[in-house]
Amino acid sequence: MVETEFLVEMRQVSKRFPGVLANDRVDLALRPGEIHVLLGENGSGKSTLMNILAGLYRPDEGEIYVGGRQVSLRSPRDAIEAGIGMVHQHFKLVDIFTVAENVILGDRNIPFFPNRRRIERHIAGLSERYGLRVDPQVRVWQLSVGERQRVEILKMLYRGCRVLILDEPTAVLTPGEARELFRNLREMADRGQAVVVITHKLQEVMEIADRVTVLRRGRAVAMLERGDFTARDLAWLMVGRDVVFQVKKPPSERGEIVLELRDVHALSDFGRPGLRGVSLTVHAGEILGVAGVAGNGQRELAEVVTGLRPVRAGSIHLAGCNITNVGVRRVIDYGVGYIPEDRLGAGLVPGLGTVDNLILKDYRRPEFRRGPFLDRRRSRERALERVKRFDVRLSDLEAPVKLLSGGNLQRLLLAREISANPSLIVAVYPVRGLDVGATEDVHRMLLEQRSAGTAILLISEDLDEIFKLSDRIAVLFEGAVTGLLSVDWTDPEKIGLLMMGERPAEEAVP
Ligand SMILES: Nc1ncnc2c1ncn2[C@@H]1O[C@H](COP(=O)(O)OP(=O)(O)OP(=O)(O)O)[C@@H](O)[C@H]1O
Ligand SMILES: [Mg+2]
Repeated sequence: MVETEFLVEMRQVSKRFPGVLANDRVDLALRPGEIHVLLGENGSGKSTLMNILAGLYRPDEGEIYVGGRQVSLRSPRDAIEAGIGMVHQHFKLVDIFTVAENVILGDRNIPFFPNRRRIERHIAGLSERYGLRVDPQVRVWQLSVGERQRVEILKMLYRGCRVLILDEPTAVLTPGEARELFRNLREMADRGQAVVVITHKLQEVMEIADRVTVLRRGRAVAMLERGDFTARDLAWLMVGRDVVFQVKKPPSERGEIVLELRDVHALSDFGRPGLRGVSLTVHAGEILGVAGVAGNGQRELAEVVTGLRPVRAGSIHLAGCNITNVGVRRVIDYGVGYIPEDRLGAGLVPGLGTVDNLILKDYRRPEFRRGPFLDRRRSRERALERVKRFDVRLSDLEAPVKLLSGGNLQRLLLAREISANPSLIVAVYPVRGLDVGATEDVHRMLLEQRSAGTAILLISEDLDEIFKLSDRIAVLFEGAVTGLLSVDWTDPEKIGLLMMGERPAEEAVP
């Protein structure tokens, strides 16, 4: 064996998918003790490269060395045995299992009759040490997206991985949780592990990266050390042009009330009160931003409006019609578009192709039918049009959409929802996981919809995003609206306080 300063080395690794060269002779070396950021536009090949390292894909060319020894990683199990673990962009947990069951799932070293108590204690210990708060006994379907991710991280820590790869870990975390995670990652690095983080947030790169590798169209175009780059340099390296960090919000005419919630109550998944008397309105041509720390009723709010969650008391009105508890199908027919938090779970059907996903909501419309059948050619034409208009980059209209990169999935979802000409759009964390360019695109699309007179309910934890896009801001805290302010009459400081449950003097909304 050769002495090496690297834990892992990838040399000249290439991976081809039908129609795309996802990785093109990439070199990547990971040092013990470093946090290495992998940066690149949506579709530039980051997840593919890491999937190769995690044993999920076989490279077409190139070599991988672990501790100086060449290895062949044929499965995630091989990778984990080599000490490499990955937390994916889309989680791979079993909903009906508990946290503990998920953590030990697939672990070869677990005896046939595992000692449940001991395992749960071990997990609780790990989760304490790394600040990854989650109850080992709870079933995964009851967890928020953020908590699910903690389970994934715990799973790798439980197996003692020395190289931990996190694919956009902070996309699902609150700013506070993200800071906490970074502290834990730094700690892991300090103990000699190597951590790879994929992220689109340049501030985070500036904050945590010891080294950065930039991918562009599958090729590693730069490898930089901390101190040698600015955020602007990185943006330029990624997209090959200057990025405008500000999208301008044009003045807009606020129209009639489109959505109205009157004293709405709903339960959360745990049977606890999720919404406790929420009243608010969203007007045509207005973006109402809902700010709040995750878990304060955002999910319940989005779900009652879109008909996915029953309303226990109070009522919801859309353009004057009472849509309380009418069900999802009817809500869609009333013209509500939905960009959910969980794109592949609630938004798109992972196993279906782009054509089917795009017409999912209007396949019953006469223009897509030929007698009792779906007009395939017509649907394809329409899909192609939408793919072009919304710049979804894909090589095959029929390939399952789960193969698309995160940014392209979101463009696809927006394409479908906006093309339906909704009177209301409910957008939950709409730019999560998107690169700087795609974020700009999505923000622009939402502002265009606003100019076109659509009412938009925007749920986000990102105060920058909320302030950039909203006309008014509602703050959710423990299931209730604790503040409703015009964006011109408030500032992030004040909203931040409201998000934490403090109550500054009420202000009138013009
Ligand atoms: N299993 C697959 N089959 C076919 N094509 C794939 C597959 N996985 C990825 N691709 C394609 O390979 C390219 C790179 O995708 P990848 O997911 O690695 O990008 P990414 O950099 O992780 O993007 P994002 O930031 O959006 O997550 C894309 O064009 C994608 O559509
Ligand atoms: Mg990716």
